[in-house]
Amino acid sequence: MNKYQRETLPVPLPSKLKKELLLGAPPFWLVSGVVIAVLLSLVPLSLLLRARVTTSEHPRMHLIQDMGVQPSFGPQAASPVFADGRAMRPPPPGTVAVGQLREDDHYYRGFVWERDEEGRLRQRFFNELPDQVVVDSAFMERGRERYNIFCATCHGMDGHGDGLVTQRAMEIGGIGWIRRDLLGPTYDRENYTDGEMFNVITHGIRSMGPYGSQISVEDRWAIVAYLRALQRSQRTGIEDLEPGELEQLR
Ligand code: HEC
Repeated sequence: MNKYQRETLPVPLPSKLKKELLLGAPPFWLVSGVVIAVLLSLVPLSLLLRARVTTSEHPRMHLIQDMGVQPSFGPQAASPVFADGRAMRPPPPGTVAVGQLREDDHYYRGFVWERDEEGRLRQRFFNELPDQVVVDSAFMERGRERYNIFCATCHGMDGHGDGLVTQRAMEIGGIGWIRRDLLGPTYDRENYTDGEMFNVITHGIRSMGPYGSQISVEDRWAIVAYLRALQRSQRTGIEDLEPGELEQLR
């Protein structure tokens, strides 16, 4: 046997093997770094999951703005694009806002435009309340309330024209201020139509200002009805009494 044959493989003892193979434990910073990285990698996922089950009051995030941010004109801005230099475009003539057609001349205006024999446009005033209004005690009460709020300052609570404003205007000799006795015969229904009265409330007349923007259409008719009642209250005679009532008075 030569010396090679005698040689045996160095089979290490298990304990020695373990020692030889034992690699050094990873350092603490590496372990904690990996743990933190793994935990952080879960954050986006958990945010996504959270977003799926919760609601938000904010609009969605819009990372790519595309048309979200673009030049635009503000209100009342100038623009060279249009001949009149305005960026805001007026509505085309004849445009009517939804629900604002106001086709019914009688109800909304109290008159219609008509051509007379010579072809001139003239207002023809209606001399009755429009069908839409229902005259009952609530309507008259409303008319009285509105009259006292809007008209009595000048025309007086009773309509004879001695409101505080008129009194003062007469006192200081207000130029062009004319005291009108709305209960006088001039403004009776035979001489002055319901439609005219409605129109005067809407647009005013000469030195009286318009009240159309403050008093609704329905309320304007209520005031007209109340004024008629006031006029009537001034001119009741014995002939207006029922036979029974006359007896009672006697
Ligand atoms: C700020 C004072 C003032 C108020 C408020 C006022 N008026 Fe007059 N009104 C006048 C004056 C002034 C005249 C006379 C105008 C003129 O002829 O120059 C007048 C005239 C009138 C006439 C007659 C118009 C004509 O054709 O001769 C009527 C009808 C009338 N008013 C109704 C009303 C009614 C209804 C109200 C309430 C909605 C009202 N006025 C509120 C000052 C007022």
